[in-house]
Amino acid sequence: MPLPHNNPSQLKSWKQLQEFSNEFKEASISTLFEADAQRAQSMSIEWEDFFVDFSKHLSDQRVLNTLYNLAEESGLEEAKKAYLSGDKINATEGRAVLHTALRTNAFSPKVDGQPVSEEVSQVKAQIKSFCNRVISGEHKGYTGKSITDIVNIGIGGSDLGPVMVTEALAYYRNHLKTHFVSNVDGDHVTEVLKNLDPETTLFLVVSKSFTTQETLANATTCREWFLSHASEADVASHFAAVSTNLGMTGQFGIANENVFAMADWVGGRFSLWSAVGLSIALSIGYENFESLLDGAAAMDQHFAEASPEKNIPLNMALLGIWYNNFMGAETEAIIPYTQYLSRFSAYLQQAVMESNGKYVDRNGAKVSYQTGSIVWGEPGTNSQHAFFQLIHQGTKLIPTDFIGFVEPLHGRQDHHDKLMSNFFAQTEALMNGKTKEEVTREFEMKGTDLSSVEDIIPHKVFEGNKPTTTFLIKKLTPYTLGSLVAAYEHKIFIQGVIWNIYSYDQWGVELGKQLANQILADWSEGSNGSHDPSTAQLLSRFKND
Ligand code: F6P
Repeated sequence: MPLPHNNPSQLKSWKQLQEFSNEFKEASISTLFEADAQRAQSMSIEWEDFFVDFSKHLSDQRVLNTLYNLAEESGLEEAKKAYLSGDKINATEGRAVLHTALRTNAFSPKVDGQPVSEEVSQVKAQIKSFCNRVISGEHKGYTGKSITDIVNIGIGGSDLGPVMVTEALAYYRNHLKTHFVSNVDGDHVTEVLKNLDPETTLFLVVSKSFTTQETLANATTCREWFLSHASEADVASHFAAVSTNLGMTGQFGIANENVFAMADWVGGRFSLWSAVGLSIALSIGYENFESLLDGAAAMDQHFAEASPEKNIPLNMALLGIWYNNFMGAETEAIIPYTQYLSRFSAYLQQAVMESNGKYVDRNGAKVSYQTGSIVWGEPGTNSQHAFFQLIHQGTKLIPTDFIGFVEPLHGRQDHHDKLMSNFFAQTEALMNGKTKEEVTREFEMKGTDLSSVEDIIPHKVFEGNKPTTTFLIKKLTPYTLGSLVAAYEHKIFIQGVIWNIYSYDQWGVELGKQLANQILADWSEGSNGSHDPSTAQLLSRFKND
């Protein structure tokens, strides 16, 4: 079933939301709490180890109900079925979008009428057996030593997910050290290779297409480095590949038994659950990797079945649309209160912005409304000492997700209490702000002469009224991380459906690649090619022609 082709701005609920936005641009979140004694409870969702509080928003039940109507009018229910069952909803590439099938068979997904469960199980079994052999030390390098270091060579979706998750689950790691080479900048690969021992290093060349310039350049450099110590026959025990392009992996000299297949229905930015997650499974062990998948599967089920009021991804997505399309917000911040999630927003930047950064709708027409929002963030409390000033007192509306955990992993409760006191304090401060009267009273309490601080007072006032969502999760585990990531994935899907765009292609990244290849081809012929005056001037400074 194809996705519906509705122009959302023509829907009844969209028009209704436009009317509400005039009212809510003037509303106060604190006043909304005063008007509804049950607001905190009724606008929070408790699910498994998650408690998600959506009450600190510039919305009320009428707005939420209209957003639920928008989802319905946009055909979300049919789209959801098409997505989860394996219909080719990535129409511009003629592919299904089935990252959910990597973690659950609950929706009986089929591609071209064929169930995909068998191929998923086969690759999982291969990952499990490979991980067990490498982790146990049974898999030996060319001099008979066990592997100590894993180098993941990949970029975009073949890098960001594995980097984010291995970092996020560092607490669960075994003895294997993981390294990531992504940038084609030769300094990156050089710095990584600098400290490695070829006898004990395993390289994973991860590329869905196996044509990506950066990955092939880095893989070639790593291979040359390896061959400067070992022989061609030794490559088999030190190189593995993950790809859909099995022909190219063979050409690169990777032994068939070391090639992990990936289906074309797994999008690069949603691929950490596939063999692309091999570095994750190696670093935390296969059981923990399975637990990551199980957590995601539980969120998939929740997303598929929960009613609108209790559906976490749906509320995340709809509030995002409310701010992006009706309230004038352009960006969303994501602030995890754990250092382990330091790469979470970088990961989401690709997932969100490569998916929904589109101005052409599913009818092929230019949209007349905003689509994908800009996502950014850094962990708290570091971010409080960096950019929070702008969220508190800047001129921009930035809805912010706060993600915190009840239990610390290392048991340092004193640190955790300090961390979490900041977590709760920030969302309260962002909502309530501080009035002129409160600032004045503080000066009075200190015995300050008010006439001496009159000029300072306006600078110390906080308007507040800044919207936040709070995710309070019991503990950072492979399972809860899987659920969290899956919730954001479904948010992307829902928003794409409503914006009437194709979320699962990425044609916008192609032009730059083509032009870079042309420049390289021109250089190989000793020319700088033909360019606009600015680019021509820059090229001649670089190549001195
Ligand atoms: O150029 C963008 C992109 O195609 C991403 O979508 C993808 O994750 C990345 O490049 C890497 O692609 P591959 O896994 O095919 O090397």
